[in-house]
Amino acid sequence: MRRLLLLALVACTHAEPAPTPAPEAKSADPIASFATVKTVLQSPRCVNCHPAGDQPLQGDDGHAHQQFVQRGPEGRGAIGLACATCHGKANPPASYGLHMPPGVSTEWRLPPPEHRMVFAGVAARALCEQLKDVRQNGGKDSAALLHHVSEDPLVLWGWSPGTGRKPVPVAHADFVKAWKSWTDAGAPCPPQG
Ligand code: HEC
Ligand code: HEC
Repeated sequence: MRRLLLLALVACTHAEPAPTPAPEAKSADPIASFATVKTVLQSPRCVNCHPAGDQPLQGDDGHAHQQFVQRGPEGRGAIGLACATCHGKANPPASYGLHMPPGVSTEWRLPPPEHRMVFAGVAARALCEQLKDVRQNGGKDSAALLHHVSEDPLVLWGWSPGTGRKPVPVAHADFVKAWKSWTDAGAPCPPQG
């Protein structure tokens, strides 16, 4: 027994110094925080308006929007088939049933073709760099981006998406917290891949 203890002591002294741990260090790791951000951005409610192509997506499987709906010159739909034709200023009441076009207080639309903000199918590093790139994110600096993810009605809709749709799988407060801890640390991007 004594010998075992001694051995353990010796082993400890020779071990590499443990990384000096702050109890919260793990949760504040900006790369882990970015992973939470990525989970939100690539969940169906967000991806469906941030597609790789020029058609919005629908459902949890991200199928192409029915009626051949297109992004159009400003993200508001093709001439003659504007998003606003079907999408109003609020989700229809539950009594209307499933598969109703959702709505928000602001204008329901895709990002414009000049800054398409593609979230669908983008690898972690590319997603991270795109978010920080003012040429790709609509000229938003860090403060404007934080404001956007905290308060924009299109973002908040992801947590009250209307009858029959699953909300974003991470609480909004946890998303904003992760966003802040990532950007407060200088918004580092994960390694390639
Ligand atoms: C109805 C479509 C729609 C939905 C749903 C949507 N977005 Fe967006 N998103 C947009 C549009 C439009 C813009 C561009 C806004 C602008 O430039 O003014 C945008 C831009 C962004 C930007 C970049 C900042 C910018 O302005 O370019 C982020 C980050 C973002 N959205 C996050 C989210 C998250 C997170 C969700 C899900 C919780 C989400 N979006 C859901 C339409 C949507
Ligand atoms: C002809 C009517 C119509 C037009 C025009 C239209 N939509 Fe829709 N949209 C719908 C309906 C109906 C649904 C609900 C489908 C369902 O729940 O199965 C829907 C659902 C969606 C969803 C899926 C929400 C989710 O997460 O499941 C997105 C995103 C969307 N529309 C974006 C747009 C955008 C952006 C435009 C304009 C470029 C647009 N739609 C134009 C009728 C329309």
